[in-house]
Amino acid sequence: MLILAMRFLVLSCLFFYIYAYYLKHKKSQYKLKSTNKVPPMWKLVSAPLKEQARQWFIKRALLKGIDWEKLSDYYKLPANMEQLKELKNKIENKTICYPDYFLQPFHGYDDGNMNWQAAQENEAAALSMCANYWKGVSAIDSERWVRNNVTMNIKKYISNSEDNRNIENILDVGCSGGISTEYIKRGFPSAGNIYGLDLSPYFVSVGAFRSKEQKTNINYIHENAESTSFSDNSFDLIICNFLFHEVPPNATMTILNEMYRLLQPNGILAIVDLDPEIIRGDAILSQFRRWAFEVTEPHIYNYYKSNMTNSLFKQGFYNVIKQQNDPINSIWIGKKGDSCIVDCNDPNCNDASCIGICE
Ligand SMILES: C[S@@+](CC[C@H](N)C(=O)[O-])C[C@H]1O[C@@H](n2cnc3c(N)ncnc32)[C@H](O)[C@@H]1O
Repeated sequence: MLILAMRFLVLSCLFFYIYAYYLKHKKSQYKLKSTNKVPPMWKLVSAPLKEQARQWFIKRALLKGIDWEKLSDYYKLPANMEQLKELKNKIENKTICYPDYFLQPFHGYDDGNMNWQAAQENEAAALSMCANYWKGVSAIDSERWVRNNVTMNIKKYISNSEDNRNIENILDVGCSGGISTEYIKRGFPSAGNIYGLDLSPYFVSVGAFRSKEQKTNINYIHENAESTSFSDNSFDLIICNFLFHEVPPNATMTILNEMYRLLQPNGILAIVDLDPEIIRGDAILSQFRRWAFEVTEPHIYNYYKSNMTNSLFKQGFYNVIKQQNDPINSIWIGKKGDSCIVDCNDPNCNDASCIGICE
């Protein structure tokens, strides 16, 4: 009992200390937003306190019915670890030069996305992400709702389109351990080729391990979304689930440009992420929960200032729509323009779809 009380006290002190720091530096921290620097709070916390904070987070997930330890222990079993390491050996692109923004502490892990622990806990973490979106709804149902809304919104967009295209080749960018990719696979069962791409070799190894176990036949590749090895016009549909709040603005534009290259003419790009307008409204998240999230997200303040609709138009996408997907996330969907890419002198290029391509 005494130990429990002591733990509670230490944790409370930790949170108050960091929260006080946050409030004191809130203004200067907003200055940091435009320089892409990492919010410094996470770096101030000592290792034992970080571990205690993590334990607190895991207990909260448990309260929502997420058995964090059980879900992640599965990937830690020696036989499974052996397979994961083999897969990593096969998939990892050892020549990749990682951008600075990616090698930051993320989500409470000092090594961010570049370690086995984050990969092993990916399934539990993905579940807990949506766990509090709706009152009285279980974490599993919340996840299903969020993910199925994504599929539904994309299908609605396609069926409202003039060409109502057949979706054969799909790319999930920033796929992590494959949870989003698996939902895409279930949502588009007749698609012939589904790829998951991520810059963390640990994460794509977990994705490949799950694909092998579940026989989903999803292909996982380890690449930087800013510059991939796929040829032009490879995909009918590209989806980026919760990628861009982890990426600074210049890299966001480079990735959008690369996605444009990879899409077929009139191919579809769908982006799901936090909606800065909803977050700014502050109605959903308490100040404390919002801060607890922000402290582990190095690029979040620049992301809040972004306008995805404008960014898509700038990259030459047309028919861009934004639709609320769930209480805090929206989905932006647009199409790649077509004729300008072939011939910018084509007189038919004078419509809106050509802006940004022919300039
Ligand atoms: C929040 S996770 C996305 C989770 C997953 N899509 C889902 O919905 O569950 C963001 C992912 O983007 C990846 N990422 C960040 N920058 C990247 C880049 N430049 N290229 C590829 N992946 C990147 C990270 O490694 C991380 O796995």
